Amino acid sequence: MDEAITTLRDEALVALDACGDIDGLEAFRIKYLGRNGAVSGLMRSLPGLAPEARPAFGRDANKLKQEIEAAFTARRENLAVNAAADRGGVDITIPGRCLPGGHSHPVSQVSLEICDTFAAMGFDIAEGPDVETDFYNFEALNIPSHHPARDMHDTFYVSDSTLLRTHTSPMQIRAMEARRPPLRMIAPGKVYRCDSDVTHTPMFHQVEGFLVDEDVSFADLKGVLSLFIARVFSVDTAIRFRPSYFPFTEPSAEVDIACVICGGKGCRVCKHTGWIEILGAGMIDPEVFRSVGYDPEEVSGFAFGIGAERIAMLKYGIDDIRLFYENDHRFLSQF
Ligand code: DAH
Repeated sequence: MDEAITTLRDEALVALDACGDIDGLEAFRIKYLGRNGAVSGLMRSLPGLAPEARPAFGRDANKLKQEIEAAFTARRENLAVNAAADRGGVDITIPGRCLPGGHSHPVSQVSLEICDTFAAMGFDIAEGPDVETDFYNFEALNIPSHHPARDMHDTFYVSDSTLLRTHTSPMQIRAMEARRPPLRMIAPGKVYRCDSDVTHTPMFHQVEGFLVDEDVSFADLKGVLSLFIARVFSVDTAIRFRPSYFPFTEPSAEVDIACVICGGKGCRVCKHTGWIEILGAGMIDPEVFRSVGYDPEEVSGFAFGIGAERIAMLKYGIDDIRLFYENDHRFLSQF
């Protein structure tokens, strides 16, 4: 082999070993393998050689070119692996993987939607304690201790006079005590009853609403609730007010909407009546006003209580309330 070739080979391999990074490697490529580099220089020297020496020189020069190219590729890969190791074995050129994002619970979403709807009508939002006194949960709402309506609530007692609130209606009392009319309030929150089956969980969510002013009528209540139902369901949802009884309202009503599953024709969900109850409401009882020191001759008002899970079940066609609280990601991620 020609001496010029062996000299260049030794020099190039030593230089390649000394390349410590990508920039060094690029300089090496230009110097030895580039168009005007040392290996091409060997080829260019070919015409100056004796004719009989040219074939062997050309072959050896070509072999050298391949050898240096192979060594160059190996060195480049080796440098890339080392660079990844320096970064803690992380190859930063691989596209990132996104972490799945969470979102608010379907019952929270529905509670928020209910509150937004009333906030748009000028209602203030208030929150109160989950652990209530007997006075706020029952007495002041015209449910004295001997009252049979206490049986409608399967209460969790904390002590003789404290309990987990069975409804959000105590917020009517707290708000009326703290403020003077006119007032429009909406109070979302957790409520608790000793009850559990496909339509009941021991903890669930209600949204209480009430409005107190002079000359408030049942027509005002109907107007506000009709607007609410049109916003949360749809404008053409049929509504029915059915006479009912609550100790803290007189007159009282339960409000039904045309069954969202069958459209009113009758099905298992609406027990073949075509109607589904969605909330309780009524004109605030004079006894309730008296318990907060308001004069029922001067003010009047209406109140309503909405079950958030119930609205969510109807909106999304869910037939078992317990699904909301099993924390199964496959269920929750659908909302
Ligand atoms: N507090 C009642 C319950 O939990 C719901 C209710 C009915 C609230 C009528 C009201 C109302 O404000 O006027 O069953």
